[in-house]
Amino acid sequence: MSSAGSYKARQFNLSGLQGISDQTLEVHFKLYEGYVKEANRLTERITEFISDGNVDQEEMPAYSELTRRLGFEFNGMVLHEYYFDNLKSGGGSGDPERTQQFFKATEKTFGSYEIWKADFVGIGKMRGVGWAICYQNPSNGQLSNNWITLHEMGNIAGFNPILVMDVWEHAYLLDYKPADRPKYIEAFFSNINWDTVEQRLKKSSRSVTA
Ligand SMILES: [Fe+2]
Repeated sequence: MSSAGSYKARQFNLSGLQGISDQTLEVHFKLYEGYVKEANRLTERITEFISDGNVDQEEMPAYSELTRRLGFEFNGMVLHEYYFDNLKSGGGSGDPERTQQFFKATEKTFGSYEIWKADFVGIGKMRGVGWAICYQNPSNGQLSNNWITLHEMGNIAGFNPILVMDVWEHAYLLDYKPADRPKYIEAFFSNINWDTVEQRLKKSSRSVTA
């Protein structure tokens, strides 16, 4: 990463979700802003380190740590934007329409929408701190559900995020007990903006090479 940081925190209007309180969202937006700030700060500091065209032995430990942390902060920023964007203010309809391309894509890859959902929800229930993400593989158009540890471990290069679910405890701790993550996942589903999901899939599908 060599360009100076100039990422701006976006604003999201998501009041009135079902089962996810405005208070939770307020805390979550603040955390997101922290990732944006850190992504900028780390990018600037790394830019300083390399500005003389050289990373000497003495600089290497600090430079390495900043660079590793950039992956965490940067993905933290980007994944939260995907997450907030695929929620719908006031709540959604639960499941996608059968006529939607996303619904058909789940049938094509998984055999049925129900099997896709069981897989995605199952990943969301995995123990640990991270994300459940449904990607599209642009080399064959198939959907792929994946677990991401923290923000940066497990993202697949080149795959396009279609549906992104935060399962860090901060996403639901004010509304549910830590052991009640399944209830949060249910709430998440009732607030999905399937139009956003559909648009992402359509955009991603244009780059499918198979
Ligand atoms: Fe989060």
